[in-house]
Amino acid sequence: MMRDVAEILLTREEIRARVQDIGYQISRDFQEKDLLLVGILKGSMIFLADLLRVIQIPVLIDFMSISSYGAATASSGVVRILKDLEEPIEGRNVVVVEDIVDTGLTLSYLMRNLQSRQPKSLRICALLDKPARRIVDVDIAYKGFSIEDRFVVGYGLDFAEHYRHLPYICVLKDEVIKGGNHS
Ligand code: IMP
Repeated sequence: MMRDVAEILLTREEIRARVQDIGYQISRDFQEKDLLLVGILKGSMIFLADLLRVIQIPVLIDFMSISSYGAATASSGVVRILKDLEEPIEGRNVVVVEDIVDTGLTLSYLMRNLQSRQPKSLRICALLDKPARRIVDVDIAYKGFSIEDRFVVGYGLDFAEHYRHLPYICVLKDEVIKGGNHS
């Protein structure tokens, strides 16, 4: 285990098994339909890559990159689109793939934005859910795990851009979060 890690919450085996289940579920739900997975960069990258490989029906992918406008407007949930989709989604079956739903503000804004483009269907797939922190309700059609209110990293999730490469989901030591000197 890496020296900055306090506790592993989800092992790579637990994640692998759950991602497989979700992949099968999506495959069943979208049989005979054209499916587009939209990954939200950068946090969902590893989840999306693993999910994609257990989906057993034809599937296309696209990406969006978003950032919130900063602390002052955080509660408004207004996000800035840094990179938009390459193709229109009108009439398509879209599943948005996100790493974690926390307050729900980011996704609710994003879903409103995507809904206005008139997809045939629009669902959310999130690896992690922190229900304790929810401010706005979002309907997560495919959920990996519900976790308690702790800041987690690994499997794509970062702290100041670090730790995305860890193959498990974990909590960092207090001194790492406070000190800001991460490896
Ligand atoms: P929300 O708008 O509060 O739901 O924010 C969701 C975004 O905040 C996620 O896509 C992550 O980028 C980030 N986030 C929330 N909780 C965590 C965490 O525990 N670890 C890493 N990133 C997090």
